[in-house]
Amino acid sequence: MNIIRAENYKEMSQLAAKKLVEQINEKSDSVLGLATGSTPEGLYEEIIKAHKEDNISFKDVTTFNLDEYVGLNKDNHQSYYYYMHHLLFNHIDINGGQVNLPNGDAHDLQEECNRYEKAIKQAGGVDIQILGIGLNGHIGFNEPGTPFSMQTHIIDLDESTRQANARFFDSIDDVPSQAITMGIDTIMQSKQIILIVSGSQKAEALEKLVNGPVTEDFPASILQQHANVTIIANRDALSELSK
Ligand code: GLP
Repeated sequence: MNIIRAENYKEMSQLAAKKLVEQINEKSDSVLGLATGSTPEGLYEEIIKAHKEDNISFKDVTTFNLDEYVGLNKDNHQSYYYYMHHLLFNHIDINGGQVNLPNGDAHDLQEECNRYEKAIKQAGGVDIQILGIGLNGHIGFNEPGTPFSMQTHIIDLDESTRQANARFFDSIDDVPSQAITMGIDTIMQSKQIILIVSGSQKAEALEKLVNGPVTEDFPASILQQHANVTIIANRDALSELSK
């Protein structure tokens, strides 16, 4: 694993954006895997800046998001569909037909998981997958205990994850109890992975990811077995690793 140290959140976001821009410059029809949460917000700001100031075009790019809450429709401001359009897609020249997120409001959720997994394969697989990490080691919404062999599936969210994400909702009761997420196997099939990590609250998780045993109890540990992972983390997030 290649670890890049950023001074702060802004530098972490800029370094991650630079990697995505390099990818698009090399292959204009790249397939990007995208993440949500607080961590990538700065990255998306930098991408919008690269589009507006440096004319980076996304018109041939295809995107697949990692996950979506079950039961929230596209207009719900807490849905990842809304997040992605609001914070990124509405501000760049991406073709709406090439933007993909699981539909957490689908009538048949299992069928939706199968459709999503197939669509990723049909697009030729993900060239670069952006990941964040949950405090309990989840990637996407693959909670501890999820078999490494899983592809896109429906997951029951951990109580700790619902609590961590309650800050985006009016109350904890509004946080969905399930999500659709790419599985660990889906994530591991991406050609390159960039994990971004910020803040001292993530330091312990990052240390476990890098040095801990590879175990389904800590899903992010599987990244030790991927051939092309770059971790871009700020100083606070690296504090447990540099001890
Ligand atoms: C969320 C998302 C993950 C994200 C993680 C960390 O639940 N499903 O993809 O990486 O939690 O979020 P944050 O960046 O807000 O700490």
